[in-house]
Amino acid sequence: MSFNALYTDLSDYYDLMCADINYYQQSASINRLHTLFGQGGTRHLDLACGTGPHVKHFSDFLYQSSGLDINQPMLDIATLRCPHAQFSLQDMCHFSTEDHFDLITCFLYSIHYSGNTQRLQACIRSTHAALSTGGVFCFNAVDKDKIDNFSFVKHSVQKGEDLFTFASKWHYKGKGDTQTLDVHIEKTNTRETQYWQDSHPMVAIGFEELTQLLAPYFNVQMFEHDYDKILPWDGKSGNAIFACVKI
Ligand SMILES: C[S@@+](CC[C@H](N)C(=O)[O-])C[C@H]1O[C@@H](n2cnc3c(N)ncnc32)[C@H](O)[C@@H]1O
Repeated sequence: MSFNALYTDLSDYYDLMCADINYYQQSASINRLHTLFGQGGTRHLDLACGTGPHVKHFSDFLYQSSGLDINQPMLDIATLRCPHAQFSLQDMCHFSTEDHFDLITCFLYSIHYSGNTQRLQACIRSTHAALSTGGVFCFNAVDKDKIDNFSFVKHSVQKGEDLFTFASKWHYKGKGDTQTLDVHIEKTNTRETQYWQDSHPMVAIGFEELTQLLAPYFNVQMFEHDYDKILPWDGKSGNAIFACVKI
């Protein structure tokens, strides 16, 4: 069992794992929320930006887009994808920036990588400090009380002679403020099969508590986890998109 192979030794395979994700749709959706709730401006920072797909789309939307991530191998790929964007190697729970941003994003549940409630609070504070007045913080999150430990996402992709299979699932033990994202990767060709098993430590939090943590810093709006339509959160779904306007 590895802790973090996916974002280090296996970073070259990350984009294959995400081949089914519609990054354009996600970026366009958050761009719409920023237009609705923000005060204009094009300075954008993506937290836990990974290999930079959202930074690429926001740059195409004419934002001055930038990213930060804690793993240099991910940033190396991001820099190749977006040679004109700024990337920095930082922990999203304790980051500092020279500039202020009009929009800060954190996609693919990556805010949970803050790991525990105390660090999540630090991430919220750092983000608030890095936003301009009226700036918007958008991210998606999962409610710990709605996690189904038996549900997983799995898909396969052929690349050259290799067949890759990626499977991932949340695991919450039912109490406390930590959970894991368990990722299983298989690479098979005619000669061999290789396996990797990552277990990523993540913060576990309910939406009520998350909203309370955000409330001193932001006016919080919650939406259904649908990047196609803007629908208010129904109060029940276990996944949601948060749009938080700096107070
Ligand atoms: C699931 S990937 C998401 C990458 C990208 N946002 C996307 O949507 O494809 C999670 C990313 O979070 C980064 N990460 C994990 N912990 C972090 C931290 N404390 N600060 C900044 N980035 C972190 C990882 O290196 C990885 O690139």
